[in-house]
Amino acid sequence: MSVAIIGVSTTKFGELWGTSPRALAREAVFGAMKDARIAPKEIQALFVGNMLSGILGGQEHLGAFFSEELGLRVPAFRIEGACASGGLALHSAVGSILSGQHETVVVLGIEKMTDHKPEDVAAALMAAGSQEERSSGATFPGLYAFLARAHMEAFGTTVQDLAVVAVKNHFHASLNTNAQFRNTITKEQVLASSKIADPLRLLDCSPVSDGAAALIITSNRRQATGNRRSVTIAASAVATDTLGLAQRESLLELKATKKSSKEAYRQAGVDPGDIDVAEVHDCFTIAEILAIEDLGFAGKGKAAAELERGEYTLNKAKKLVVNPSGGLKGCGHPVGATGVKQVVELVEQLRMDAGDRQVIGVRVGLAHNVGGSGATAVVHILKRA
Ligand code: COA
Repeated sequence: MSVAIIGVSTTKFGELWGTSPRALAREAVFGAMKDARIAPKEIQALFVGNMLSGILGGQEHLGAFFSEELGLRVPAFRIEGACASGGLALHSAVGSILSGQHETVVVLGIEKMTDHKPEDVAAALMAAGSQEERSSGATFPGLYAFLARAHMEAFGTTVQDLAVVAVKNHFHASLNTNAQFRNTITKEQVLASSKIADPLRLLDCSPVSDGAAALIITSNRRQATGNRRSVTIAASAVATDTLGLAQRESLLELKATKKSSKEAYRQAGVDPGDIDVAEVHDCFTIAEILAIEDLGFAGKGKAAAELERGEYTLNKAKKLVVNPSGGLKGCGHPVGATGVKQVVELVEQLRMDAGDRQVIGVRVGLAHNVGGSGATAVVHILKRA
């Protein structure tokens, strides 16, 4: 695939009450352009990943909104795929380049959640669930609690196993100046935190967050090869599954993750053993265990024991590091921004620019972004150019 990422930027993630969506978008997009060393006139299209602006803020027309706001006045598109909106926006942008429609485009992932009441945010997020789930009052912590229970019954996974994921990702986030949570935590603290949806506790959950991230991608050989920091997109794949959990054949896996990663490995000509670093969708601790298994890094039912041994942890992992940014759990989860931020982290890792979070010897990275309880999965594989 001849698409390169030549510029990246992310804002801080967190409760950014004093910062407007406009300011977040400007910081991310102009930061990415500066990083790519290109002028706004070189941008031919804008792809915006966002989930909740319409339902929470009343503004649906985000392509034109941000095109005007950023002074780009280019063809602009808002892409929605629940919490996978950012990954889907990148996938759509890659498609526009591969089709020959555009040469250089910007992808913006953005979400502003914390200005709204928690109950409104929980209800808005459920717009990604099935009608049946919404009308029965389910929430996303509740749906992932079902997945956790099923995994526990089938493989003997414990609440301690879930806690290990949160401890690892808070440790990684403590090294990330853009993360929402910079505090390390212990297993005991996770197990003592308040129950949200049994067996998931507060510290098993990703938070409600604000933030934006942006990428400049191009097919322009001159821009890509002249930029020593460029990274190649080796694969971009999407798969879907049923919206509702009740319609799934199995609660022990996310089929969309398996299908999209299989296709991505095929496109990139690699297998799970070739991945050096991965940013996976840990919206809840059980989601990271499922992702590690469904992406093929560990056998079914084997991820928890590997996590406990320190596999997937920075400075300890022998195979690969998972979520060096802190993941959704530690870095934060402004839903439409997450899929783009995952790719920003991988680019920094592949450029050897990740500072204290640098994974040694990285050549291939994988980003895994999920919408809903697994109804959409997007996988990108990046290689050092
Ligand atoms: N992890 C760690 N700390 C968290 C946290 C989280 N997920 N969520 C909130 N906190 C902290 C806050 O910073 C705050 O700390 P402080 O008192 O030191 O300031 C404290 O916990 C209470 O915060 P509050 O905002 O009142 O929490 P809440 O009870 O309203 O919300 C959750 C907690 C878990 C319900 C909320 O974070 C949530 O809904 N998360 C899931 C979001 C989601 O579903 N995303 C989509 C995934 S598919």
